[in-house]
Amino acid sequence: MDNNESSMREIEIRKLEHIFLCSYCDVEYDKTTLLENVELIHRGTCGVNFNDIETEIKLFGKRLSAPIIVSGMTGGHSKAKEINKNIAKAVEELGLGMGVGSQRAAIVNKDLTDTYSIVRDYTSNLVIGNLGAVNFIVDNWDEETIDKAVEMIDADAMAIHFNPLQEIIQPEGDLNFKNLLKIKDAIINYKKKYKNIPFIAKQVGEGFSRKDALILKDIGFDAIDVQGSGGTSWAKVEIYRVKDVNKKNLLKKFSNWGIPTAISIFEVKSVYNGIVIGSGGIRSGLDIAKCIAVGCDCCSVALPILKASLKGWEEVVKVLEEYIKELKIAMFLVGSENIEELKKVPYVVKGTLREWIKNCK
Ligand SMILES: Cc1cc2nc3c(=O)[nH]c(=O)nc-3n(C[C@H](O)[C@H](O)[C@H](O)COP(=O)(O)O)c2cc1C
Repeated sequence: MDNNESSMREIEIRKLEHIFLCSYCDVEYDKTTLLENVELIHRGTCGVNFNDIETEIKLFGKRLSAPIIVSGMTGGHSKAKEINKNIAKAVEELGLGMGVGSQRAAIVNKDLTDTYSIVRDYTSNLVIGNLGAVNFIVDNWDEETIDKAVEMIDADAMAIHFNPLQEIIQPEGDLNFKNLLKIKDAIINYKKKYKNIPFIAKQVGEGFSRKDALILKDIGFDAIDVQGSGGTSWAKVEIYRVKDVNKKNLLKKFSNWGIPTAISIFEVKSVYNGIVIGSGGIRSGLDIAKCIAVGCDCCSVALPILKASLKGWEEVVKVLEEYIKELKIAMFLVGSENIEELKKVPYVVKGTLREWIKNCK
């Protein structure tokens, strides 16, 4: 096995480890999303016929039956292929959208393409591609790389993930996030030479701040997927992977690092007018209703869908159907017949979230 092959094998093993650790171990933050600090005002008179409630939205040129996307998680090996297939079947059944995980594996090794492209055998709905921001800097990726990723899955939009915490805690991590303008050039050149698809800046569970949102706006991102803290914690995932006690202790110190999702949404919304996706620790339709009410256009969910996908596509359908049902109940109770109305309902911000918004400069 040459060096390249052995490094590919290591990436494959790491991805499999992530899938199994995320499925069977406690990998979630101790702290919450702080969405519990958002209270939607109950409408005692309600004034809506439940059966008239419509959750449909249009996002990135595609219709979704509800404002829910499955976050990009995997690709690059046979188990990932099965997971992507199960998610694709479920989103097709329900009329929702999905992302694939980082496409780097197939950019480096074409033989892995079908572990991602399989999604197109099962859904014509919204599919979002995924590349790492750091690779534009350390590997000099450009518009040609984006084109390969888009073509691989006929992507409707591309997510570029920013994951400095994950990179610094992984033994294999890339640590140079300095020259972000390389991403700006790649996006501009891609849109000029190829297709004018939307680009989404995506975090992976530690969220974006107001300052980040300003930088992302300057880079030219059409949407921000906040992926704040309160759900999957990458430092917690890594705790299970390392054997060395000192490294474990270091990871424990950072296992609750990050901006809670509700705060990240407010920070981003304070300076950014593009599409905002509420994400990171979204675990119910009520969470989704709150994100939409405070200004998000859509929500995305990862961990619960990963767990369900390992049991089969029908399980994914069940989890997502439950979210849609809960979202509709919340809409009924605040008197909203559709998502546009839900965006305008009054709400109260309490506790830590309120303090943060007050003190945020
Ligand atoms: C097993 C697993 C693999 C993931 N791989 C990726 C990835 O390749 N690219 C990416 O942008 N995010 C990746 N994520 C992060 C998720 O998209 C999401 O941002 C994060 O898990 C927080 O959402 P959650 O709390 O709903 O899990 C992954 C998440 C999980 C659980």
